[in-house]
Amino acid sequence: MTLIKTIEELKTVLFRIRSNGKSIGFVPTMGALHKGHVSLLQRARNENEVVVCSIFVNPIQFNNPDDLKKYPRTLDKDVELIKSIADVIFAPEPEEVYPELPNEKFDFGALGSVMEGAYRPGHFNGVATIVSRLFNWIKPDKAYFGEKDYQQLAIIREMVRQKKIPVEIIGCPTVREESGLAVSSRNQRLSDEEKIIAANIYRILQEAKKNSDLPVNNIKELVTSEIGKIKEFKLEYFEIADAKTLQPVSKVTKGNTIACIALYLGEVRLIDEIIL
Ligand code: PAF
Repeated sequence: MTLIKTIEELKTVLFRIRSNGKSIGFVPTMGALHKGHVSLLQRARNENEVVVCSIFVNPIQFNNPDDLKKYPRTLDKDVELIKSIADVIFAPEPEEVYPELPNEKFDFGALGSVMEGAYRPGHFNGVATIVSRLFNWIKPDKAYFGEKDYQQLAIIREMVRQKKIPVEIIGCPTVREESGLAVSSRNQRLSDEEKIIAANIYRILQEAKKNSDLPVNNIKELVTSEIGKIKEFKLEYFEIADAKTLQPVSKVTKGNTIACIALYLGEVRLIDEIIL
């Protein structure tokens, strides 16, 4: 495993690899790695000759400065966890990635204006900026993203389509704790007691799925009421949407409709999803 900090070194190392005709699988991350990331890396390992992982807490995708400050940074532990799976770990400093203020502007239309796009202005522009730069430097054959960030995955697919970037985007199922809690770097900020409370998110999403024959408004009422019973939760949104366009639907089409939720547990913002 090689740990690389600069773009120049990254390009040199990957040029050599590509010249030898080797396929590159890429997993972009913000660190604080967990078993969700490990499963993405393992899939990349199985499907490519060389595996690259980036670890970079991307400041321009945080619309809340406090969230950026508190985002867990655990590089040494991360390297230890994935050094036997990844061949190259790219962990640059912010000045390396953004020597000047970035000015890329993306337009994802309706796809980017709902849910996370509505509640986190500028978030997807920040994600698309870093991911497009990383794709440009790394030029992977395949890149792997978790379905937990379902809208992010749709945005990346759209960005790749718009910019005609030659990379295959692979969405991978959400990895969960035994309790059902979706694994997330943000879970590191939860106490053990809060983790037990947070497991209710998936329980309630499963309730929504069980009731997917009901009109959408009734499913929404059911979820809002169940979330409301847990005093530690502060619901930001619960949406039922077309799984491709992410636009709200009035009727569930089984297998093609997604339910997405975002809420606060204390100061920690958690998101989750389930296909209905
Ligand atoms: O999902 C994440 O961890 C980040 O949004 C990503 C894709 C690494 C971009 O910073």
